[in-house]
Amino acid sequence: MILIDGKKAAAELRAELKEEVAELKSKHNKVPGLTVILIGDLTPSQIYVRNKEKSANEVGLKSEVIKYPDSVEEKTVLEKIQELNSDETVSGILVQLPLPKHIDKQKVIEAIDPSKDVDGFHPMNVGNLSSGYESSIPCTPLGCYLLIKKIEPNLSGKKAVVVGRSNLNGKPMTQLLLKENCTVTITHSKTKDLKAECLEADIIVAAVGIPELVRGDWVKKDAIVIDVGINKTDNGIVGDVHFDEVSKNARALTPVPGGVGPMTIACLLKNTIDCFKRSQI
Ligand code: GUN
Repeated sequence: MILIDGKKAAAELRAELKEEVAELKSKHNKVPGLTVILIGDLTPSQIYVRNKEKSANEVGLKSEVIKYPDSVEEKTVLEKIQELNSDETVSGILVQLPLPKHIDKQKVIEAIDPSKDVDGFHPMNVGNLSSGYESSIPCTPLGCYLLIKKIEPNLSGKKAVVVGRSNLNGKPMTQLLLKENCTVTITHSKTKDLKAECLEADIIVAAVGIPELVRGDWVKKDAIVIDVGINKTDNGIVGDVHFDEVSKNARALTPVPGGVGPMTIACLLKNTIDCFKRSQI
């Protein structure tokens, strides 16, 4: 079984991006800039944002974090986004989710200029991705996609099962696999026989947020299994896949932690650089 090393893949991607940033700097005499807006003091969000900033600096991007208290007015955030939209030194804008209840997430997402939407959450980017046009691609599914391609460069005709239908993961993951000519089944909490669906799959992407849902006898021999889950349990952090059981059947499997997670941040840097490149044309 191949243990898919997301840390190593992310380090390789960051090294490539670092070279690219250096080339862009010498060509344009400026570097791509990422601005992250962080609202409130949720610990996981603070950790994510700190890691994003550290990685952005490591590859040579200009990075900035704007912090607001939990009580900030929606209007203040929307006005800041407008300011960043017209700031030429800002290539990418990310508003860390979740947001406090009094702030309308959709309004915030739609306020971001689609050409600076490094999360790929703006409806314009969602539509472009599903139409097969150029777009920002949400970082986590993009990271999963790059890991799958490393194991199996030709995905044409493969049967893929995506467990979970969120806008963040399941839906964009489906689009990426479709683009590669996979036959994709989207499953979710109301799917009648999830085990039977998974048993058909050459590729399983589990992004449903249920600890160790995907068991060993749900996985066809030699399937590629990507675990997006990060679930806190009494036994520590576990994914959506039962690692020990599935590792006996799968051809390749991502661990949690150290699988998809590191790739998500590396892909955010890639998206920032891609937004910069598109803005220079
Ligand atoms: N919170 C958890 N994951 C994400 C992500 O990919 N993007 C944003 N903006 N917030 C998140």
